[in-house]
Order: sequence, then C-alpha cells, then structure tokens
Amino acid sequence: MKTAAAEVLVEIEGKIGVVTINRPQALNALSIAVMDAVSEALGGFDRDPSIHAMVLAGLPKAFAAGADIGEMKGIAGGAAAEKQLARHLSNWDRIGNLKKPLVAAVSGFALGGGCELAMACDMIVASETAVFGQPEVLIGVIPGAGGTQRLTKVVGKALSMEMNLTGRKLTAREALSYGLVNKVVPVESFLSEAKKLAHTIAAQPPLAVQAAKASVLAAVDSKLSEGLSFERQSFFRLFDTQDQKEGMTAFSEKRKPVWTGK
Ligand code: CAA
Repeated sequence: MKTAAAEVLVEIEGKIGVVTINRPQALNALSIAVMDAVSEALGGFDRDPSIHAMVLAGLPKAFAAGADIGEMKGIAGGAAAEKQLARHLSNWDRIGNLKKPLVAAVSGFALGGGCELAMACDMIVASETAVFGQPEVLIGVIPGAGGTQRLTKVVGKALSMEMNLTGRKLTAREALSYGLVNKVVPVESFLSEAKKLAHTIAAQPPLAVQAAKASVLAAVDSKLSEGLSFERQSFFRLFDTQDQKEGMTAFSEKRKPVWTGK
C-alpha cells in the first residue's frame, strides 16, 4: 500500500510494521511530505496493539541522503527559518519518542537528516554499502535533527567533531566498529535481516520490551543515578503484569511461555 505521500510504503508482516521510504529519484531525500508520512505511519503502528515492533527501511542505494535541500534552500533567515523548519524537524523527535522498538534497515547513503533518522531508531542493520555522515557543514549549516547530539553520545566527542566539522563519512564497517550499527550484512539481505531482528523482538512479551526500550533510552538521556532509578521503577511495575507471572512460571515448569501482552 502507498500512503498519501506516494513515496512511503507501509506494510504489516505478522506482528511487525514496515515503513519504506521510496523516493529513488532524489536518493530518498526527506521532504516535508515524506517525513510527515513516515512519522504518521510509524505513529499508527505505535498505537496499533497488534504491532509489537517496527522496521524503517530505505532503498538499496539510499536510506536517505538528508533533508530535502531543494525545499530548504529558499528559506529566509531569522524567524522564518524556525517557523518553516520546526514542524518538519519535530518528526525526527516524534520518531525518537515512539514506545515500540524500531529497527532501521540502512543501505547506501544515510547522510544528514538520513543519518539522524537512522540514529533516532533503536537499532540499525546496515548493508555493506551503507555510508553514514553529517555533511551539513559542506552546505553551510549544521545538523538540525540530532546529528551533533545522538552521534556524539554513540561515537564520542573526537569522531563526532571530525564528522560534523569536516563532513567525514563512515563506511558500514567503521560504523560497526564505533557501535553506531548492530550488524553489517550483504546488500541483498539488509531488509530481511532487519525484519528478522524485529520479528525476534516482536516474539517477546511486549510490555517488558517497551519497558526495556524506555529504560535504555533513559540511560542515554540521563545521569547514571537517574537512569538506575528509572530502570528500578520499571522493573517493579512489570510485576503487575500477567506476562511476568507467565514468564517465570513457564521457566520453572520448563516450557515455552505464552505471552498475552497483559
Ligand atoms: N536533497 C534533495 N535532493 C537530493 C539530496 C538532498 N539531500 N541528495 C541528493 N539529491 C538529489 C540530487 O539533487 C540529484 O537529483 P537530480 O538527478 O535531479 O540532479 C539526485 O538526488 C542524485 O544525486 P547526485 O547526482 O548528487 O548523486 P551522487 O551519487 O553523485 O551523490 C550524494 C550522492 C553524495 C549523496 C550527494 O547527492 C549529496 O551530497 N547529497 C546531499 C547530502 C547532504 O548534504 N545531506 C544533508 C542535507 S541537510 C540536512 O539533512 C539537515 C538536517 O539536519 C535535517
């Protein structure tokens, strides 16, 4: 099925929802229409109780080569920049705040807003041809959707400085060595591997999965003491769920648990 943007494909495969950016003529540049559609589709899956995990994919040649430069180049300075771009950029925030796990399937270019979009996901499966970078400085700006923040938290200050200040790009193997991606796979299988990871997550008890995601994000976002406290409270709350009873009972009874999501 194609969404209103006609450049964003949406499908359901069992318990996973898959959103694919499909704008090959512009290397999947993230126009306002594309980002609105991506955010709307993922938000819909996040609210759908039958969906337990999601995949956000690009095409083999490009996950996304950034925000749409054609759309941005005529924007005036001052208040106009904020007025015209704030809503667009809020889509990256919305995606970073989804409750359910989101796996990025990245092949080819993941640059600028494309790299930021991949980093707003929870895990990244990269093809051997994937290229990550924040080249905004080369067109006279800086990242506006998290590229100086999320990248620094993952790869550290020195490399993030180099990437943000010179436009240096990382190969998939380099990205793996710096912990930016979970795995590197042949280009033919980047989507199937991302789906496989999402299906594995979707088979776990959903409330525990969502609590784990929120807790890991709290670690990224807070001081260790605050993150530990957040984790502890989430851990306690899971003892209110049927899945906790079922999981621990099944372990004692040496059988596979049957999850109900309650
Ligand atoms: N926006 C709009 N169109 C883009 C685009 C972008 N970000 N990236 C590529 N395209 C278009 C090109 O204009 C070209 O269109 P035409 O055929 O109509 O001319 C088409 O995609 C193919 O691109 P190239 O001919 O440039 O392909 P290439 O293989 O020679 O180079 C590339 C590929 C290195 C990715 C190069 O296209 C490039 O540098 N793109 C821009 C990358 C970039 O600067 N991204 C950051 C954008 S700003 C941003 O994202 C801000 C933010 O933080 C949110």
